[in-house]
Amino acid sequence: MDKKILRIGIIGTGFMARAHSNAYNRISDFFPELEYQPKLQAVCSRSAARVEKFAKQWGFDRWETDWKKLVQSDDIDAIDICTPNHLHADIAIAAAEHGKMILCEKPLARTVEEASPMVDAVEKYNVPNTVYYNYRRVPAVTLAKQIIDEGKLGRIFHFRANFLQDWTINPELPQGGEGLWRLDSKSAGSGVTGDLLAHCIDTAMWLNGGIKDVSAVTETFVKERIHQETGQVEKVGIDDACIFHCHFDNGSLGVFEATRYARGQKALYTFEINGEHASIRWDLHDQNRLGYFDHRDESIVRGWRSIHVSDSDQPYIDKWWIPGVCIGYEHTFVHHVADFLHSLELNKPCSPTFREALETQKVCEAVLDSASSRSWKDTGVDWKG
Ligand SMILES: NC(=O)c1ccc[n+]([C@@H]2O[C@H](COP(=O)([O-])OP(=O)(O)OC[C@H]3O[C@@H](n4cnc5c(N)ncnc54)[C@H](O)[C@@H]3O)[C@@H](O)[C@H]2O)c1
Repeated sequence: MDKKILRIGIIGTGFMARAHSNAYNRISDFFPELEYQPKLQAVCSRSAARVEKFAKQWGFDRWETDWKKLVQSDDIDAIDICTPNHLHADIAIAAAEHGKMILCEKPLARTVEEASPMVDAVEKYNVPNTVYYNYRRVPAVTLAKQIIDEGKLGRIFHFRANFLQDWTINPELPQGGEGLWRLDSKSAGSGVTGDLLAHCIDTAMWLNGGIKDVSAVTETFVKERIHQETGQVEKVGIDDACIFHCHFDNGSLGVFEATRYARGQKALYTFEINGEHASIRWDLHDQNRLGYFDHRDESIVRGWRSIHVSDSDQPYIDKWWIPGVCIGYEHTFVHHVADFLHSLELNKPCSPTFREALETQKVCEAVLDSASSRSWKDTGVDWKG
């Protein structure tokens, strides 16, 4: 079969640019049936020396130092946005205006106000789009979705999720600039809410439907930090920790916590769902396992099963190795790219689209509004995903 070549332009050369470059490079070997073949055409970052090195290392044909040039280039079919959050909207809108497909990192933007025109742009110019809420594509999480959709849990009562880290406890850590933009609200929009809870919210709504209303508390433990770019001590505008509870549209209750102040935790993303018949739990630190408890089991053997999601009839696994051996974090991005390419063949949207990611943005915003006003907030979410 003659492949259709999809020429990719990545913006950014950091963590996510590496994860995505790796994903594009893996596709043809592990998803040979796909009609589309991505090609690393160009990469963009402000530093010429850094972008050249990155381009050579990952096998891009060329590089740019101005994203505005990249989004206008005739030799690019799809723009992949791997920059800090404050740049997502300008890049995505310009890319859509130039007819490019867009794969954007999460969160979609800093605010709902900023994210809404991004949705309008991709819909107006009718360009395929997706947002990298990649945890949906951990095989164990995808299996959780299958189990829930088959109705095995029955009526769902509870959804609880945590995303815990510990990397900003040191008050001497500066905010802003290269590597530390997540601490600067001008660049990140928010702290753990947009960075960590956005993942939990996307997964939660995908598994359990829309979140109707929220009540939240946030805390900023270190109130001032030196800004790397200005050299001045500046007020910290991000939330260091956030806890919220909520109602889902299906009547279940949710409780969510994220922090960067949980000493000893690096990326402890966990969730548990309790239904009438069965419960499910998952832990990023043991990502190939899914916990499953079914009350309908014979009582003398009833208990939590620890399902090693590594068999060829489980999601995505047949693409990789032999049953029983593990895959890792990077594979979630390969799965996302493969699903995006498959969606092009089918002429269907690749979930989560910008529109779906806007719903997650609405929940994040309601959480922050609730914390600052100390009151319950409706999210306005209309979940169809
Ligand atoms: N899906 C996930 O699990 C996940 C994980 C980490 C980060 N992210 C998201 O990915 C995005 C990038 O995060 P990261 O961890 O890769 O950050 P990073 O700091 O590692 O990389 C950001 C890159 O953007 C570049 N950049 C900044 N301004 C630029 C400009 N004007 N033009 C071109 N390049 C510019 C920087 O030089 C750097 O190479 C963020 O939106 C973040 O929220 C998602």
